[in-house]
Amino acid sequence: MTINRSQVTHQGGAMDYKKFIDDQIEEIKKAAGDGIAINALSGGVDSSVLTVLAHRALGDRCRTYFIDNALMREGEPEAVVKTFADIGVPVLKVDARAEFMGALRGLTDPEEKRCAITETFYKGVFGRLVRETGAKMLLHGTILTDIEETVAGIKRQHNILAQLGIDPVKEYGYRVVEPLATLRKDGVREVGRLLGLPSKVWDRIPFPGPALATRIVGEVTDDKLAIVRRATAIVEGELSDTKAFQYLAVLLSDKATGIRDGKREFGHIIVVRCIESRDARAATATRLPWEKLERICAAVTDIPGVNRCLYDLTPKPPATVEYI
Ligand code: XMP
Repeated sequence: MTINRSQVTHQGGAMDYKKFIDDQIEEIKKAAGDGIAINALSGGVDSSVLTVLAHRALGDRCRTYFIDNALMREGEPEAVVKTFADIGVPVLKVDARAEFMGALRGLTDPEEKRCAITETFYKGVFGRLVRETGAKMLLHGTILTDIEETVAGIKRQHNILAQLGIDPVKEYGYRVVEPLATLRKDGVREVGRLLGLPSKVWDRIPFPGPALATRIVGEVTDDKLAIVRRATAIVEGELSDTKAFQYLAVLLSDKATGIRDGKREFGHIIVVRCIESRDARAATATRLPWEKLERICAAVTDIPGVNRCLYDLTPKPPATVEYI
């Protein structure tokens, strides 16, 4: 999809999000005709907002799937299905853990990892779901920042196809429609709020589609996922009372010498990142209280095999938010 900024509706210079919602509902209806559409809900802000928009437009002609790709946070699959059941949107869970882990095996290069996730997602899992449901259209929660960073060559966002020269109809046999592609994160949140989503959904910190794979430098393995998942829960628990834009834990591929139980240990290193940002295009590190950092450090280095915890002060640019 080519982004045409004139598609963004404005009212007196400010975006008219109510009109945006009405327009997108009409567009989705038109695109679907009397057919079936499917979409993937990860529980992140973008896919959550997209899910509600799609159900407003198509009702049960939109089938929403939660793809368990083995890369999710602690308790996430169950929590997402429950949150949406509570607002009347049925979500079907698909266990694709073995498929994603198989595709990631042996890969260490960030772009190769992202590419493997894209292929598994679009060709493997979605190809199958499209065939099973007879859907002709996949609705996707791509936002403008995803597209811009992919086009700029900063990174291949997992959900970008057209801008990478991939024709989903030819490659995968279905159309991809991206109703949020003219919005940035702050706009998506506003749409979510206006759609009546609970604030715990639209006000959630961003979480990338490739999930914890973006938080492991080097090969993604079950053991490393278990470490970064635990560290993520610690960091999110400790920082949820801040107003920071995003906070996360990253497992590095390097190791460092430390001491455990009086013995030398060559252990893992976790980086904690907490940022201030409006829309993730630029960011600065949050000035967290020292005591908070010390509590995080103590809990993180309590994870077996982890003996260092670092706080990342780097702004974006030159860093990005994620590590791959
Ligand atoms: P970066 O790392 O590019 O992140 O500075 C900017 C924002 O985008 C999120 N992010 C992604 N979101 N798919 C997504 O849906 C991706 O592949 C992806 N990569 C990064 C990141 O968490 C941050 O909020």
